[in-house]
Amino acid sequence: MTQSLTIRRPDDWHLHLRDGAMLAGVLPETARHFARAIVMPNLVPPVVTGADAAAYRARIMAGLPEGMTFQPLMTLYLTEETDPADVAAAHASGLVNAVKLYPAGATTNSASGVTDFDKVRGVLEKMAEIGLPLCIHGEVTTHDVDIFDREQVFLDTVLHPLRDRIPGLKVTLEHVTTSHGIDYVAEASGDIAGTITTHHLMINRNHILVGGIKPHYYCLPVAKRREHMQALRRAATSGNPRFFLGTDSAPHNDENKETACGCAGCFTATNTMACLAHVFEEQGALDKLEGFTSLHGPARYGLAPNDDTITLVKDAQPVAYPAKIVTGDGPVTVFDPGHPLFWRVT
Ligand code: NCD
Ligand code: ZN
Repeated sequence: MTQSLTIRRPDDWHLHLRDGAMLAGVLPETARHFARAIVMPNLVPPVVTGADAAAYRARIMAGLPEGMTFQPLMTLYLTEETDPADVAAAHASGLVNAVKLYPAGATTNSASGVTDFDKVRGVLEKMAEIGLPLCIHGEVTTHDVDIFDREQVFLDTVLHPLRDRIPGLKVTLEHVTTSHGIDYVAEASGDIAGTITTHHLMINRNHILVGGIKPHYYCLPVAKRREHMQALRRAATSGNPRFFLGTDSAPHNDENKETACGCAGCFTATNTMACLAHVFEEQGALDKLEGFTSLHGPARYGLAPNDDTITLVKDAQPVAYPAKIVTGDGPVTVFDPGHPLFWRVT
């Protein structure tokens, strides 16, 4: 018997769309299923000002194929020079839905990120005042901290003190990868939420390293031990509205992934809903999928859920997803969880 599940159309609360030929190639992959997405600002150069965000938004809309609808929710890249008045104006005009904090050097194109948190205090205080969320890449970048510990150390040494100093700040801890991050988001007082990616629900560090190095599983924050993946699965399927989907779908062409120093990022836009249905079914929690993908995020951002729906069906035979998508910037490998997927969006 065919199983089917109809849910409100999902949104993606953490997405990399890039620019130019790559943007044109990847945008339809998200717009096919998702109504809206929080669009990451880590272009080169980054999207820093309201004017940058307006121009980037226009490029995204221009790249949307005829007949598709999609609403990009824009973010600003927080730098030590960011002007609180510019941020407030971009928010007031409805252009910008969040500000993104990258600790300097944490990940792809994060060189302009924050080193000295005192220098961004004015912006963060303004954001607390106007209720604009701060999306945080929660990893320390100090060289003496092991890459697998960087999230946990960030919670104690950066996030907690920061939230203590500016208690009204709305914070989203993005792409949580550890049980420590999950516990922090679940238990902390104040206004906090956490996004969870598709791939971190399906892979752990063994997938990256056992049997040969798999560059297409390498992303940041790097996937941790299996027990952390299980904590993420429990949180995602718990129904707790503090947790919702941010795919962190992060396209790099194969040339830049399959090389001696490969870029970080998993490209999951194409098959995310199939992957999530698989995971939620495995967890016995298909009834929690809609909350995770379509309800908790809008509630967090003060937006209504989407009016329309999508329907997922489970086939008896595996569904063939493309191994790669073609872009004007070269082929991009689609995330392969390493086992067949049976769900598809009709
Ligand atoms: C992202 C990218 O490629 O822009 N990469 C990743 O591994 N997630 C950057 C990021 O969000 O950390
Ligand atoms: Zn990201």
